[in-house]
Amino acid sequence: MTPTHPCVVGIACFAILGCVTVAQALVTLEVTEGNSTCIKAELSASFSITYDTANGTRTVMVPLPGSAVVGGASSCGGDGRSPWLVALFGDGHTLGLSFSSNNSLYSVSNLTLQYNLSDVTTFPEANSTDVVTVETTSVGMVARVNTTYRCISVSPVIVGGATVTFSNVKMEAYMTGDDLSPNESVCTADQNSTTAPPPPPSTTTAAPVPVPTPPGTPNQGSYSVSNSNGTVCLLARMALQLNISHFSALQNKTIQEVVNLLPNQTTSSGSCDPSSATLVLTQGGTTNLSFLFTLVTSSLYR
Ligand SMILES: *[C@@H]1O[C@H](CO)[C@@H](O)[C@H](O)[C@H]1NC(C)=O
Ligand SMILES: *[C@@H]1O[C@H](CO)[C@@H](O)[C@H](O)[C@H]1NC(C)=O
Ligand SMILES: *[C@@H]1O[C@H](CO)[C@@H](O)[C@H](O)[C@H]1NC(C)=O
Ligand SMILES: *[C@@H]1O[C@H](CO)[C@@H](O)[C@H](O)[C@H]1NC(C)=O
Ligand SMILES: *[C@@H]1O[C@H](CO)[C@@H](O)[C@H](O)[C@H]1NC(C)=O
Ligand SMILES: *[C@@H]1O[C@H](CO)[C@@H](O)[C@H](O)[C@H]1NC(C)=O
Ligand SMILES: *[C@@H]1O[C@H](CO)[C@@H](O)[C@H](O)[C@H]1NC(C)=O
Ligand SMILES: *[C@@H]1O[C@H](CO)[C@@H](O)[C@H](O)[C@H]1NC(C)=O
Ligand SMILES: *[C@@H]1O[C@H](CO)[C@@H](O)[C@H](O)[C@H]1NC(C)=O
Ligand SMILES: *[C@@H]1O[C@H](CO)[C@@H](O)[C@H](O)[C@H]1NC(C)=O
Ligand SMILES: *[C@@H]1O[C@H](CO)[C@@H](O)[C@H](O)[C@H]1NC(C)=O
Ligand SMILES: *[C@@H]1O[C@H](CO)[C@@H](O)[C@H](O)[C@H]1NC(C)=O
Repeated sequence: MTPTHPCVVGIACFAILGCVTVAQALVTLEVTEGNSTCIKAELSASFSITYDTANGTRTVMVPLPGSAVVGGASSCGGDGRSPWLVALFGDGHTLGLSFSSNNSLYSVSNLTLQYNLSDVTTFPEANSTDVVTVETTSVGMVARVNTTYRCISVSPVIVGGATVTFSNVKMEAYMTGDDLSPNESVCTADQNSTTAPPPPPSTTTAAPVPVPTPPGTPNQGSYSVSNSNGTVCLLARMALQLNISHFSALQNKTIQEVVNLLPNQTTSSGSCDPSSATLVLTQGGTTNLSFLFTLVTSSLYR
């Protein structure tokens, strides 16, 4: 029997609202023209989106589902247009990545997220039915031409009031072959990653389910996020214990686990912009925690 893919669980926590677990699918997206592929991406992504309700704002975590398809305005470019990958998912939501290149490097020149607030399953109690479009040109995905951009690390991109969190990214644009080039441009987060690689999948297939021993009190860790200019823009000191319940397809049941975050095996990353910040904590390649902080402007704090 072939080993199953390790299940990556993303957890998003929002001030006041508590935490949500999101099982992330690895999605493959290809833009083709004629018989040739010009953009191919294998990635996991999730979106944390803050929207208005009658009672105030609410934040939801939306995964890019495995059912996402390439469509819309996707194109290989040419005639002065940029290559554009547009993924469609759910009830009229889209994620678009537009590329640009000079002869040595290519990059994601802009990221567009479109979400449909009429979708009441995803956005309960939204007080608007608009389709909202947010866009950013600071995406930070750059690779050498004829290589695959690789970024296994969790990397958040802030776009308007939303944060797109990518992980397990392998992507190539301006492709010359039929498949991703074996030559890779590895993102800086992966180069500096001190995180131990994820443990190999268990080789025993019918092993009895280990009875989890409850962990003790979690230790406090100190986690920081730096700006592009190296200035620390977010500092968090906390001890974290997670009580996670998720459905295991392998065991065909919902599993409840209590996990302590081990500060010495946890790396932090993230990003800041003038009105919000994201802190991503990664432990052992299988636990990703994203914290989204939004600046609330209030006369109380002036
Ligand atoms: C695509 O491939 C098929 C079969 O290999 C071939 O018949 C067809 O002409 C090709 N089309 C283009 C646009 O290259
Ligand atoms: C919003 O307010 C109404 C009335 O006060 C209440 O019934 C409802 O539960 C509130 N919704 C949320 C999400 O707090
Ligand atoms: C939705 O609610 C927010 C505040 O919660 C308010 O500022 C906004 O005008 C409302 N929008 C609509 C379309 O009612
Ligand atoms: C983003 O890319 C798309 C597709 O290339 C383009 O239509 C749009 O104008 C771009 N937006 C910005 C701000 O560059
Ligand atoms: C937005 O969602 C609503 C309700 O789910 C659906 O009827 C509508 O077609 C969607 N809009 C787009 C642009 O897909
Ligand atoms: C391509 O762009 C990069 C960064 O913008 C620059 O360092 C490099 O010199 C450029 N190469 C060419 C051939 O223009
Ligand atoms: C990329 O590959 C194509 C086709 O193999 C080749 O023509 C081109 O010179 C290569 N570009 C670079 C920068 O290596
Ligand atoms: C990978 O890079 C090496 C050295 O730069 C080059 O010789 C080789 O052709 C490249 N392979 C592909 C598939 O582009
Ligand atoms: C990665 O490490 C290199 C040297 O080890 C350092 O120059 C660089 O600033 C580090 N990058 C990040 C994003 O930490
Ligand atoms: C770094 O950028 C922040 C805003 O992004 C600014 O407040 C700070 O002064 C900058 N620090 C340096 C050393 O340039
Ligand atoms: C999973 O469990 C449910 C009830 O416990 C059972 O009805 C179902 O057939 C099981 N599915 C598989 C694939 O074993
Ligand atoms: C990490 O910390 C735990 C508890 O403080 C300790 O038992 C363990 O040996 C440490 N591991 C490493 C790799 O330092």
